[in-house]
Amino acid sequence: MRVPSKLADVGTTIFATMTQLANEHGAINLSQGFPDYPCDPELLHDLGEAARAGHNQYAPMGGVPALRQAIADKVRSASGATVDPEGEVTVTAGATQAIFTVAACVLSPGDEAILLDPSYDSYAPAVLAQGARPVRIPLSAPSFAVDWDAVARSVTSRTRLLVVNNPNNPSTAVFSADDLEALAELAERQDLLVLADEVYEHMVFDGLRHRSVLAHPALRRRSFAVYSFGKTFHATGWKVGYCVAPPPLTSEFRKVHQFLVYAVNTPAQHALARYLASFPRWDGLPAFFQSKRDRLAEGLSRAGFRLLPSRGTYFQLADYSGIREDLDDVAFSRWLTTSGGVATIPVSAFYAAPPAQRLVRFCFAKRDETLDAALARLRALPGG
Ligand SMILES: Cc1ncc(COP(=O)(O)O)c(C=O)c1O
Repeated sequence: MRVPSKLADVGTTIFATMTQLANEHGAINLSQGFPDYPCDPELLHDLGEAARAGHNQYAPMGGVPALRQAIADKVRSASGATVDPEGEVTVTAGATQAIFTVAACVLSPGDEAILLDPSYDSYAPAVLAQGARPVRIPLSAPSFAVDWDAVARSVTSRTRLLVVNNPNNPSTAVFSADDLEALAELAERQDLLVLADEVYEHMVFDGLRHRSVLAHPALRRRSFAVYSFGKTFHATGWKVGYCVAPPPLTSEFRKVHQFLVYAVNTPAQHALARYLASFPRWDGLPAFFQSKRDRLAEGLSRAGFRLLPSRGTYFQLADYSGIREDLDDVAFSRWLTTSGGVATIPVSAFYAAPPAQRLVRFCFAKRDETLDAALARLRALPGG
């Protein structure tokens, strides 16, 4: 039987591959981006309460009203933007579903979407699945700064969508005010839509500030901004996120959303609504993660890695050429997992055409004991 494939070149994600390899070899898993510490017991309590209170049937298609209101309040307090919970907020099954839904609702076969590499691994398949073409612009270490003129030169009459991720996984780059201006200017001039993946909005360090597209009037009009409660509340397994977009965009978004998932986990939505309503739970995140970053960074330097600045997200990039100059990053990641007992992600996995870099990504959303145990193993490496 011939099985047609719209994603013929797509295999298992590098995250699943490295996690599996880590499990097989008993390696400490600093590869995939998920915490190994529990989420707030109060949130778990709220989940149990919501289920016991009978919130166990389909939620409204756009999301539980109390959660959408809590999201609108949160957006106002985090970025100053006013959003209408009814017509501009849609609760999704994590940011991943929101990303796919945006691609599905605005891209047609033959269209183009611009991705800035390194880019999160779900963007290109989401574009390809629509019969559209990802146009990938590689950015390089150490700054991973966007050359907006190069982005402008890659726009064609078929370009519909610009995908940005701020703060960026894996580069950790955080957009400046100038970046947002350049993005807005280009999107307006070429009449492009923007998919802004802001799942790491609350993880920005060293006094830097996250600038949301929602707080920029021109971008606000033409952006789908996507978020993840999994990232913000240490509960990646819940898979609840949301998309904020102006009414005409939200209306298109929901046409796909209603047939892709229709509605998202009801008790989790009630729990999140209640949890969010009390006070800004995300205020402490930068300090919490910055201390983990510093703990990991100090140990990695002592083990012989050369570190790039980690400005946001919960990742740290490290150049390993002082340890194994002879290996490319995929081979190094495999070697480190199987022989060094610590799993990482090769940064080339986030590129269509990776530059000559020797970088791996470590996740520091881990208990201090986990980070310390991993660092002890890394210090024992030959060359470390
Ligand atoms: C940049 C980025 N976007 C989206 C996601 C997925 O978010 P969710 O788990 O809510 O689907 C991730 C998860 O690692 C991510 O790093």
